Amino acid sequence: MTTGCPAHADGAACPVSDRARAFDPFTGAYQIDPAAALAWSRAEEPVFYSPETGYWVVSCYADVKAVFRDPLLFSPCNVLEKITPFPDEAMAVLASYGYAMNRTLVNEDEPAHTERRRVLMAHFLPANIEAHRDRVRVLTREKVDAFIAKGRADLVEEMLWEIPLTVALHFLGVPESDMARLREFSMAHTVNTWGRPSREDQIALAHEVGRFWQFAGEVLNRMRAEPHGQGWMHEAIRQNALHPDIVTDSYLHSMMMAIIVAAHETTAHAAANAIKLLLTDGAGWRAICEDAALIPNAVEECLRYAGSVVAWRRQLTSPATVGGTDLPAGAKLLIVMASANHDERQFQNADSFDIYRDNATDHLTFGYGAHQCMGKNLARLELRIILEELSRRLPHLRLAEQEFTYLPNTSFRGPDHLWVEWDVAANPAEGAERARFEIGAPRRKDIARSVVVTAVQTEVEGVISLHLADPQGRPLPRWTAGAHVDLELDGFDRSYSLCGDPDEPGYTVSILREEAGRGGSRRFHAVTPGTVLRLRGPRNHFPLDEAAPAHLLIAGGIGITPILAMADRLKRIGARYHLHYLGAAEARMAHLARLSRDHAGQVTAHPRDRVPRADLAALVAAAAPGTRISACGPARMLEALQSLTATRPDLVLAIEHFSAGDDTDLADNRPFEVELADSGFTLPVPADRTLLQVLRAAGIDIASDCEEGLCGSCEVAVLDGTVDHRDKVLSIAERAAGTRMMCCRSRGEGRLKLAL
Ligand code: HEM
Ligand code: FES
Repeated sequence: MTTGCPAHADGAACPVSDRARAFDPFTGAYQIDPAAALAWSRAEEPVFYSPETGYWVVSCYADVKAVFRDPLLFSPCNVLEKITPFPDEAMAVLASYGYAMNRTLVNEDEPAHTERRRVLMAHFLPANIEAHRDRVRVLTREKVDAFIAKGRADLVEEMLWEIPLTVALHFLGVPESDMARLREFSMAHTVNTWGRPSREDQIALAHEVGRFWQFAGEVLNRMRAEPHGQGWMHEAIRQNALHPDIVTDSYLHSMMMAIIVAAHETTAHAAANAIKLLLTDGAGWRAICEDAALIPNAVEECLRYAGSVVAWRRQLTSPATVGGTDLPAGAKLLIVMASANHDERQFQNADSFDIYRDNATDHLTFGYGAHQCMGKNLARLELRIILEELSRRLPHLRLAEQEFTYLPNTSFRGPDHLWVEWDVAANPAEGAERARFEIGAPRRKDIARSVVVTAVQTEVEGVISLHLADPQGRPLPRWTAGAHVDLELDGFDRSYSLCGDPDEPGYTVSILREEAGRGGSRRFHAVTPGTVLRLRGPRNHFPLDEAAPAHLLIAGGIGITPILAMADRLKRIGARYHLHYLGAAEARMAHLARLSRDHAGQVTAHPRDRVPRADLAALVAAAAPGTRISACGPARMLEALQSLTATRPDLVLAIEHFSAGDDTDLADNRPFEVELADSGFTLPVPADRTLLQVLRAAGIDIASDCEEGLCGSCEVAVLDGTVDHRDKVLSIAERAAGTRMMCCRSRGEGRLKLAL
């Protein structure tokens, strides 16, 4: 066994710490909970050498993502290597079956990989995944029908392995026979590749894997005899005939074996993990029983919190530094996505399970970049439909008492059995399916929680404040000054800034009644205590830079709401600030009394019926260098501030708009191209489509909410090129920097390079 890390093989002080030495992914803590088992590493030693495995373990989000991002430096060539090398006898057994597992897609290097992926992509595009929806639904329904009257079931045995396997075989075009055999083959392949079998087991395993290899070859030969067969492997066979240099013979046989496992075991485990987690949590399960629209995000949060692929591998092609540790060329990496997914630097309260988390889709369970799971949208569809059927038909499901066991290996994780129970007499009447999920990443619009109005207060004529709380009395998520929430009621959907006390468990919003509006504010003005609303957020695209030497706060009319929260915060931290509040009539300016009570001496009110109109030019001229101006109010006021500050580069202007306006003439749209640096693709964006639409259709996960350039959900990082910014999120300085864009509305000139 290695006694020190290979980088210090010369006998110099070896940095292998006791915990690194004790790390064993085949037993104990890692098998029970890989993220918890590596909490120490995330905190203290983000990259460490594990003598037990001979791998460098990478545990933090940014490092794992950086490794995925660069397939040239971090080659995937070792992804399907046996992590426990076989003894000669077992290798001889494998050879007797002609076993020659080679490159597929997942372990292929560039440029061969991207060429291959490109010609084999079509079946995986969201538009083509649609064709599998009905089959998944029917299969799931049949399985639930078969056990719904029993009151107790092992969901793994009764449905969770068979649905993904049947769907996978259909997707691939492989005949649906010998299913039980295939399941056993898959388990053998997993232990063979990612496990630590004993010496005796290795021989039996070698026979099983050899038989799987032969089976895959026979299926392939039968499929070759059907030139017009349907399914992805048939397509691969046709591409093999058309481009034998890109889709090679060796690829076909290896892929046939690998994909059967990739397409079903991953999804079966993910479903079992998700149901176990939701039932343990209770609140998450109740929420999806009440509102099926939450299921897509619940699935992402389950994949983040307890994913089915917990670690993957890469090998360094030249020396590099990862997470501050210098690694030699040839170093083998075990990149632990389960640990990265619990990294506090990426996910707030990472160890708590929260189906409303709005960046859950950032999890790395599907990998990332050029090799990111091609089947992710098929898997998502299956997981969503399984959860929808179970939560609708068996909302009273509970976990039975049981000890969970897992197949010991580094990478694939899901319980061998999942016993659940329910009271058959309480089974609800069969209702219609509650949601038809879109293909792709969840929409942020669906991540809405119910809140109840606890009080309605009239501030001034035409302005009310609503106090909102969680119906079960739990604290709502924390927020910071400048944050807003979106409220939905009776088809109306409006954004309102939060203006209460951030330490309170509930929220306060103030709403102006707009007679000329489309009716949203009038509807919200009619609510009474006890009304239940849907709420999204909070989100903050108007954050305070607390480090600024001085703050000038400017509010116009109801724009006072985020500004009030900012003033409260600045007072609390002892910052220098002054607030100017502009309004048409004193009697209609909300929160004036509170301002003069809490911010005496720091507020100047400018009611136009009492004092001359505020002189914005004078305010800007008097601002000391370095002052941060935060402004919210009517578009004319904001435009005036933008032009007044244009000649004062020493000031920072941050503004919050309430509507997108319609300053964009769609007839001006010109086509452009985007190069996706991490995925290795270039996509054309035609004049009549948004960048968001084009990215989604290509299977890239992009969140969105407003799709009007207002909310900031769809932000992407720009590496190169000129952006035609059409959003209301970025400040002038941020636009000028050209490193971020909102892809729902903004476009490019010529060609853009994005970090996607
Ligand atoms: C690759 C996870 C379901 C097909 C991968 C990778 C991971 C993964 C971690 C490697 C990514 C990388 O190196 O960046 C999962 C999980 C699934 C799932 C967690 C279910 C929850 C599926 C399904 C299919 C599939 C259902 C097929 C129908 C593939 C393929 C690749 C892949 C073809 C290779 C992509 C490439 O290297 O270009 N998957 N997968 N996966 N997966 Fe999945
Ligand atoms: Fe709201 Fe793009 S989705 S800014």
